[in-house]
Amino acid sequence: MVNDALLRLTGQLSGGWLNILIASHDWIIPSLQTIHILSVAVVLSGVLFINLRIAGLVEHGQPIAAILDRYLWPVTIAVTVLAVTGALLIAGEPTRAIFRMIFWIKMALIVAALGLTWSHRAVFTLAPGGAIAVAPARKLVAIVALALWLAVIVAGRWIAYVNAWPGAPS
Ligand code: HEM
Repeated sequence: MVNDALLRLTGQLSGGWLNILIASHDWIIPSLQTIHILSVAVVLSGVLFINLRIAGLVEHGQPIAAILDRYLWPVTIAVTVLAVTGALLIAGEPTRAIFRMIFWIKMALIVAALGLTWSHRAVFTLAPGGAIAVAPARKLVAIVALALWLAVIVAGRWIAYVNAWPGAPS
């Protein structure tokens, strides 16, 4: 059933104006991939600072709320750019990623990683100025969030190297 829905979607995308536009210009896919990977760098830098600070491993002198103010928005904007460039990559080669389980694992990991990273905001907004003790459970959330972001990157890289599931178009 999911396969059928995805077949319909990729059937609609294939030969559509966006697909033709992207496929007929050799520079578009590499450019999208370049923007995608540069945005990964922005996300990784931001989530490293945020989660390592909360875990107590870097920037001890900086209030956590200030770190969140500085890095949460660039991370969110970069994830938006990733979503747009990712969608355009799919429009350019509709059957390449979405019939691979690793692509959907990556999508689920992104939702979880974003959710955990933004959950810090609710915890640390109340004490913007001062040094506050970070609960061990929150440190664990930070480490798990970071691990999820790293898993997103590994999953993204793997899309190109795994087979599509049975019944997918070749
Ligand atoms: C939010 C929606 C996203 C979509 C729809 C998306 C989609 C894609 C697609 C279609 C590819 C190309 C796979 C291929 O053909 O080999 C890709 C590659 C990749 N993505 Fe994403 N992506 C998204 C977000 C992210 C995020 C948040 C990260 C990491 C923080 C990420 C990291 C990567 C990496 C590392 C690659 C491999 C790049 C390469 O090998 O050149 N993506 N993504």
